Amino acid sequence: MIKTAYYQDLTKMNTFGMKVKARCFIEYDSVADLVDIEFEELARPVLHIGGGSNLLFTDDFKGTVLHSKINFIEILDDAPAETVLVSVGAGVVFDDFCDWAAKEGLWGVENLSYIPGEVGASAVQNIGAYGVEVKDVIKTVYCYDTIDEEFVNFDVEDLEYGYRDSAFKNPEIKGRYIVTHVVFALSRTPQPKLDYGHLKAAVEAAGAELTPALIRKVIIKIRKEKLPEPSVMGSAGSFFKNPVITAEHYARIEAAAKAELGADYKVPHYDLPDGTVKVPAAWMIEQCGWKGKRSGNAAVYDKQPLVIVNYTGEAYPEEIIGLEKRIIASVKAKFDIELHPEVDHI
Ligand code: EPU
Repeated sequence: MIKTAYYQDLTKMNTFGMKVKARCFIEYDSVADLVDIEFEELARPVLHIGGGSNLLFTDDFKGTVLHSKINFIEILDDAPAETVLVSVGAGVVFDDFCDWAAKEGLWGVENLSYIPGEVGASAVQNIGAYGVEVKDVIKTVYCYDTIDEEFVNFDVEDLEYGYRDSAFKNPEIKGRYIVTHVVFALSRTPQPKLDYGHLKAAVEAAGAELTPALIRKVIIKIRKEKLPEPSVMGSAGSFFKNPVITAEHYARIEAAAKAELGADYKVPHYDLPDGTVKVPAAWMIEQCGWKGKRSGNAAVYDKQPLVIVNYTGEAYPEEIIGLEKRIIASVKAKFDIELHPEVDHI
């Protein structure tokens, strides 16, 4: 079924809670519905949203917003014994899928528990947390091609997945393909991934048998302590990407930090296989004094400074963007690093 609305209020459809409207809003609940939508005739631009958890609407949306309610989770029976292939509709809330997998005792998405958003967007954005990216468990992404008006599918190898990036974000094809469902390769064989930060210690401290459900429980606890609940305080999760810099640049930052904070001070960083270094943006933002700072209705979250929050629920896009610009300028001045937003500005 296709539902169409005009001048639709989007406040509840973006986790930042920006009070904006869409000129046209279309919601559909089956793969077949896509064939009945006249894409050529839609008011432009066309934006397909998922959970609206990685967007910053900068104004009312002048075109058409589409949303999928394709909601199914289905085990495919043609899987080899150790791998379990699961087909999941694009409109399924990603964490509902993680919950389902944990209950089925299936390994693969437990580390991605409690990330806001929906399955279709997860495959576009390559969501990631605690050492796992969704591309690690994706096998095939099924789409509708809105230009050639046909159903197509892409194997994971062809989707150029990178850090929060995929071929779907390539400007030449952005918006052309609508994800209808994703086939994930999960496993019944234990495959715990506990190398990120203090995850292993936290899981061991729980003292129970190692299962996807246990890891999921521990991760949800960690995330709840660090990240704001969208229902309580609007945000889009991490606002910035973690920058990757050269080893020389990192050495300069480390020397300056030790001079300022003491010779024993340890700068958080991850050495990457190609010799470059990833430095947590959260650390730099904190070092610039932004942690917990309020600016009008917007603020830098006090428990995780990578997150900008709609502190009062009344923030205008301009307030969020103003804060973003000032953070970028101060990180540039102190570290000579240009932060880039992870959140899509619409
Ligand atoms: N840090 C600080 N001060 C703080 C918080 C963190 O200095 O107040 C430093 C610490 O050194 C910490 C490091 O930043 O070790 C990294 O922090 P964290 O483990 O919380 O992860 P992150 O790099 O800030 C990324 C993802 C998150 C994901 C976490 C956990 C990005 C942009 N963000 O954040 O993803 O949940 O790792 O894997 O890659 C999201 O995309 O919306 C998101 C929340």
